[in-house]
Amino acid sequence: MSKKVFITGGTTGIGFELAKAYALEGNEVGVCGRDITKLPADYKKSYPTIKAYNVDVTNSEQLINAVNDFAPQGLDLIIANAGIGVGSKKRIPDFAAQRKVFDINVGGVINAFEAAYEKMMNKKSGHLVAIASVAGFVGLPGNGAYSGSKAAVIKLCESMQLDTRGTGLNVTCICPGFIDTPLTQKNDHPMPFLMPSHKGASLIKNAIDNKETLFIFPWQMKIVITLLDKLPRAFYRMIMSFKFANYSKE
Ligand SMILES: NC(=O)c1ccc[n+]([C@@H]2O[C@H](COP(=O)([O-])OP(=O)(O)OC[C@H]3O[C@@H](n4cnc5c(N)ncnc54)[C@H](OP(=O)(O)O)[C@@H]3O)[C@@H](O)[C@H]2O)c1
Repeated sequence: MSKKVFITGGTTGIGFELAKAYALEGNEVGVCGRDITKLPADYKKSYPTIKAYNVDVTNSEQLINAVNDFAPQGLDLIIANAGIGVGSKKRIPDFAAQRKVFDINVGGVINAFEAAYEKMMNKKSGHLVAIASVAGFVGLPGNGAYSGSKAAVIKLCESMQLDTRGTGLNVTCICPGFIDTPLTQKNDHPMPFLMPSHKGASLIKNAIDNKETLFIFPWQMKIVITLLDKLPRAFYRMIMSFKFANYSKE
């Protein structure tokens, strides 16, 4: 049966790959971004069941209105995917940029879940999904806001998984490693186990279909990040400052 799926940040990268995958299965898909002209010009022709909304996820009213317009009768799945990075790694923090990262990466997930929650609770069925990151398991050098924002998303989902038990709702947290998208194309550092976006989206969709609670991928990155997470923090600090802290010294 056709599902109603809403994806924040569905205009490029992982979000758009997911939108295409759900549309190809015959589902109705709502996507949003701050600038929907980023979608391919012919997307309507190729994917007629995708409907796009100009929405900033930090504006909860805009997001609620878009979700209500897209799914007045009820929503099956929301994927809180919209997110940004901080750009190049810096020892001296750009506090304004850090605030923006938290507003979008954490506030945007809360706003997306809020836009879907009541609709799903009313029907006692629905699936809340957030795209976090492996970066949320450790404090990466020069990338504190991104790591911190994704850590917040991981724990938000962990709590919501407990809180929604027995309600008919499911919560899934996705933690990708490096996926080739406009976000990572700006990176000037090595990206081990980089994966094409269509392959990443296919693995994510599979985890969502299987209602996994926490999906960390690719498997090589899962091993690396689990080891780094479990290390005594003094060792972690030593490894990271010795080997990976290659940010500029300004
Ligand atoms: N690529 C990776 O390696 C990787 C790894 C781990 C986690 N992730 C996470 O995966 C998610 C998708 O990233 P991506 O790599 O696909 O990046 P992307 O290609 O840059 O896509 C980001 C999407 O989010 C939208 N967006 C950003 N800020 C927004 C806002 N305030 N309101 C509404 N939409 C907004 C963007 O559209 P507009 O700019 O037009 O608003 C775009 O559609 C992010 O949460 C990212 O942190 C990515």
